[in-house]
Amino acid sequence: FSCGVVIVAAGRGERAGQSAEGPKQYRTIGDRPVIAHTLDIFATWPGAGPIVVVIHPDDEALFAAARMCMSGRADLSVVHGGATRQLSVLAGLEALSGTGAPYVMIHDAVRPFIDHALLGRCREALGSGAEAVLPAIAVADTLKRTTEGRLVEETVPRAGLYAAQTPQCFRLEAILAAHRRASASGRSDFTDDASIAEWAGLPVLLVEGAADNVKLTLKRDISMADERLSRHAV
Ligand code: C5P
Repeated sequence: FSCGVVIVAAGRGERAGQSAEGPKQYRTIGDRPVIAHTLDIFATWPGAGPIVVVIHPDDEALFAAARMCMSGRADLSVVHGGATRQLSVLAGLEALSGTGAPYVMIHDAVRPFIDHALLGRCREALGSGAEAVLPAIAVADTLKRTTEGRLVEETVPRAGLYAAQTPQCFRLEAILAAHRRASASGRSDFTDDASIAEWAGLPVLLVEGAADNVKLTLKRDISMADERLSRHAV
């Protein structure tokens, strides 16, 4: 079976600072925009079905330019996102639902280092009957809870704690219904889709994420990603 894909790329990327290249998903790392790397991983994966990219209405030209830099197949559909990540995902799911895809992988455009092995683990978990699949990695650092004045209050035991990644994968009908209910109930602030599944009472199965699958959030994340890819190229 194949998995539909929703790539969310409608954010403004404010934490990464302003750049002439636009939001962080359009910054160049290695020799191409971040989003071209991300899309190519899916476009060259045999398990991928229809791909929907969710962009900001102001980014049409940036996206068109990035798309020219893809080396994989380019049959993507493009829709406009909303004010929060949650609303952008919902727009992508609504568009994907017209294609008849049974499953969806929802991925952040700003995670360009996913790999086919991780996509395979997610697909396998869906194939074994899971309705919601979350790639995550065990937290490695010792965790502290602080007061607002930055005094350490306590050490939080890290056993059983995981950092959530994307692509988060679902039976399309189940996550679309959960998303519709969440936004109808006035919520638009869920920061990932597994938390909407949890909110809706769907069991979420964890699979091993990948240490390299980082989210480019800050300016330094982008320069580190650029250095990493440039090193690979030589
Ligand atoms: O802001 P954050 O780092 O959580 O964004 C994660 C992903 O969600 C990014 O790829 C971003 O472009 C996307 N996003 C979106 N629509 C928004 C906000 C974020 O598609 N309104």
